Amino acid sequence: MRVVRLSVSHLRKLEQVELRPAAGLNLLVGDNGAGKTSLLEALHLMAYGRSFRGRVRDGLVRTGAEAVEVFVEWNEAAGRARRAGLRHTGQSWVGRLDGDNVQHLGDLCAALAVVSFEPGSHALVTGGGEPRRRFMDWGLFHVEQDFLNLWRRYSRALKQRNALLKSGVAGAQLNAWDNELAEAGEPLTERRAHYMERLQDRLVITARELVPSLGAASIEFLPGWKRHELSLADALLLARERDRQMGYTSLGPHRADWKVEYASTPNGEALSRGQAKLTALACLLSQAEDYALLRAEWPVIALDDLASELDRQHQRRVLDRLVASGAQVFITGTEAPAALEDLAASPIVFHVEQGRVSGPQSPASGG
Ligand SMILES: Nc1ncnc2c1ncn2[C@@H]1O[C@H](COP(=O)(O)OP(=O)(O)O)[C@@H](O)[C@H]1O
Ligand SMILES: [Mg+2]
Repeated sequence: MRVVRLSVSHLRKLEQVELRPAAGLNLLVGDNGAGKTSLLEALHLMAYGRSFRGRVRDGLVRTGAEAVEVFVEWNEAAGRARRAGLRHTGQSWVGRLDGDNVQHLGDLCAALAVVSFEPGSHALVTGGGEPRRRFMDWGLFHVEQDFLNLWRRYSRALKQRNALLKSGVAGAQLNAWDNELAEAGEPLTERRAHYMERLQDRLVITARELVPSLGAASIEFLPGWKRHELSLADALLLARERDRQMGYTSLGPHRADWKVEYASTPNGEALSRGQAKLTALACLLSQAEDYALLRAEWPVIALDDLASELDRQHQRRVLDRLVASGAQVFITGTEAPAALEDLAASPIVFHVEQGRVSGPQSPASGG
């Protein structure tokens, strides 16, 4: 997957910018606050319906503007040219894909695949379950045909059940929704379990390369209820009285989680921040690789502030891998990361200044 044009309006400091990135490495350099991360947020927005720094309504729309607008044109490996547009006010949105209006934000997310690594990415390992569920579901949206339908069905049923629980209705009225939750939730969980198993095979290799000192990596998938003991239907029935008291559904796939464990820290010892960061990166690269294997093309890779996140040696390992893969990569930094000097491939450089972008320039031209 290769983005050939990115146009962004009213995203944070960016008023109106347009970028025509190259295949391979693209470097976005500029001072702090210039708008580099904002450009990656624009890509991420199209691919996830939100920024990696939060929801659209949490400050993504430029102060004084009504909506952020992003337009992306990209080519798929098989040659198909695609285009998507999204206008988002923070409350409401309008999306277009290949010339047609889309019904769900998920339709845009399913079309454009971007994997982002940024300074907040360690939350994938050290934070709450929400980003880990999103991570898992992102992979499945892209590689499993029926996952989106299962997910929507489950989400709808959950909303209904929670509304009934809140209104304090009698237990019998919950039967239909328990049934629906179980019917969507069981296969959804089955998909997740398989996916995380597959990802573990990739992670073993990626983590060995990025954090060799921690020993073999493994992933433990937590389905959200005691799945080895109970069907989801039975678990919901057993939890019903408690759920009624609390006013929400206390167990099920919406509470699923996963964690990475290493041979050297079997008792769940906390990882250092640096180790957590590298673990998150290993998970993200494993996910990108899994996508590439199943879809026969790499997702777009966005690495925000690479030099401040990784030392030169780790930068080098990641970039070597990505350059060899042929993926399109975006890297931001206040200057070119040191590891770029070690690479055979030189990046295309864009300069970001005061919310404006100039380039591309090859590094040799001195721009
Ligand atoms: N909603 C907003 N409206 C206008 N400017 C914003 C908004 N949110 C953030 N900014 C500004 O955008 C800049 C942040 O851009 P960012 O992409 O993070 O820069 P960089 O990654 O180059 O350091 C900051 O100067 C910040 O003040
Ligand atoms: Mg930044």
